Amino acid sequence: MLQRWTTGQGYAIIIKFGGTIQCIMVKEISIALVLLLTTTLQQVRAQLPNLPDPVAALIPQPSSMKTSPGQYLINETTRVGYGGKDSLVIQMAEELAEFIKQKAGFPLTVTPSIQPLYNMIYLQLGQVPDSLGKEGYILNIEKPHVLIKAKTHAGLFYGIQSLKQLISVDVQKKITLVRLPLVQIVDKPRFEWRGSMLDCGRYFYSVDFIKKWLDYMAMHKLNVFHWHLTEDHGWRIESKKYPRLNEISSWRAGTQYGRAEHQIDPNPHGGFYTQDQIREIVQYAADRFITVVPEVEMPGHSLAVLVAYPELSCTGGPFKMPVIWDIQDDIFCAGKAETFSFLEDILSEVVELFPGKIIHIGGDEAPKKRWKECEHCQARIQEEGLKDEHELQSYFIKRIEQFLQTKERSIIGWDEILEGGLAPNATVMSWRGTKGGIEAARQKHDVVMAPNEFMYFDYYQGEPHLEPHAIGGLITLEKVYGYDPVPAELDKEERKHIKGVQANIWSEYIHSPEKAEYMAFPRLAALAEIAWTPLARKNWEDFTRRMETQYKRYDEAGINYSRSAKNVRFQTEIDTLANVATVTLRTNSYKPEIRYTVDGSEPGKNSPLYEGPFPVTLPATIRAQVFEGDKPAGKVNVRSVLSPATAEYH
Ligand code: ACM
Ligand code: ZN
Repeated sequence: MLQRWTTGQGYAIIIKFGGTIQCIMVKEISIALVLLLTTTLQQVRAQLPNLPDPVAALIPQPSSMKTSPGQYLINETTRVGYGGKDSLVIQMAEELAEFIKQKAGFPLTVTPSIQPLYNMIYLQLGQVPDSLGKEGYILNIEKPHVLIKAKTHAGLFYGIQSLKQLISVDVQKKITLVRLPLVQIVDKPRFEWRGSMLDCGRYFYSVDFIKKWLDYMAMHKLNVFHWHLTEDHGWRIESKKYPRLNEISSWRAGTQYGRAEHQIDPNPHGGFYTQDQIREIVQYAADRFITVVPEVEMPGHSLAVLVAYPELSCTGGPFKMPVIWDIQDDIFCAGKAETFSFLEDILSEVVELFPGKIIHIGGDEAPKKRWKECEHCQARIQEEGLKDEHELQSYFIKRIEQFLQTKERSIIGWDEILEGGLAPNATVMSWRGTKGGIEAARQKHDVVMAPNEFMYFDYYQGEPHLEPHAIGGLITLEKVYGYDPVPAELDKEERKHIKGVQANIWSEYIHSPEKAEYMAFPRLAALAEIAWTPLARKNWEDFTRRMETQYKRYDEAGINYSRSAKNVRFQTEIDTLANVATVTLRTNSYKPEIRYTVDGSEPGKNSPLYEGPFPVTLPATIRAQVFEGDKPAGKVNVRSVLSPATAEYH
């Protein structure tokens, strides 16, 4: 605390810092001010614990970053300044001050300023090199001030996201130190589509949770929320014109929770988002520079609609809302005019709610069984001179594309929309591996890569016996990180069509927000880095180092992330003659302290430390776990290795 007043002899300065009060008398005001400043700084320095410089552990890693020794201290006199009168920039400045207040415990003054001043965090919408594109920014944290500069609001927003990640708070000797590393960052994303899909058709997540999801996306600089809103098992969009979609199609009698079909939770499940709620979510996303791409599935994954409006099917029904997870034969009839009137009506409602330029029309997993037997579908094939049911699907999608063009929208669909011929302007979302994406790029169509072997975050992220039930597969953090969305097979021109990458979370076996978070995190961090960071700047080991800080951010945000990256995995190489296995232990975390046993006991903090591959005589059972200090960090994993002679009998 500082006070100053005039006395007969001159100026008295009283400084209170860390509990001690000092009084200095001086004659001249200028001397007073200099003394005031230097004395304060000396006081602060004297009180500063000897902490190492804060580390710039950003995720995603910026495209370029220089660090300097030292640190920037944010204190009560730091101001958040902004140039110009732009209301959004002012709002960003206020939100940043609020964020710092939450962390630091003291408020910062927000003020207009024509330039960055001493001890100011300055936001500026202004000229930056064109090469930074629509989303790039500059962030300089230097001794006199912090500057975030961008040409666009989005760029400024991403600069602020980086700054937020760089703030470290330490409480030392009752002093709260709010510090930043000294950096010069020039940053922009690698891809324009950095997506996350959440399946709200199979599980109905609340509006509040969707907002949280959008916050998490913003924290990772992701910018497309693919909202899977319609499914066989549930319709989630309020329709004014077709109320039975909300009365009937939004609810089902139960939910399959395990692998077997008899494992049914008998509680009814359902709900839908009202049009007002959808508008609220779209706005919430826009405030975070996230575009919402709604998905309205067709012609398959539409049984819920057919339950309410069976006349839109080939057979006429009746149908029941499904409770088990399989692909349904009953899909929209492609022969009946009513199907297209219905979809045009629905899409007309949808485009009013979603201002984004692109609408996802599904297109995946549409069995052709009913179409083959349907007189309407067969008549359509005849009339339109189509070769087969695949061309009928292509006709279906093209017709929808044409309709959406009248609304100034374009379509994206799953890679099945390639079958029978792509609609002229369609973007393809490659999910059955990368083949569809490669084919579409060769046909000069835009592509978003979401291949199931890398980007399906409903798959297991660790060894299944240590994980909650998942749909299958194994996609570890390292596997996600290792994925490059640009296929090596494509030439330079074709590569330009790869617009980005996306991770999908399907909800067959995800029946709570907590589990959705568990499946998404930390893999979404790896996705963020694939989507944002230039390929040459990716580095797995460094990523795991930065993840240690990211986990703390997740703790602070209350995210129920998975610790599976800290579970030990085994690799064994067996020497049959010697009856010995060489055991390698590894994790997906940074320089783990792994402790193991081979004597049947549980690993503890005093068990042998893993320092490299070691031999065991067979048969052997190895137990291993990561420790952080005295505390276990991951789960215990166990591997039994039989002797080769015994193994023959198993
Ligand atoms: C999909 O996973 N059926 C797109
Ligand atoms: Zn039909």
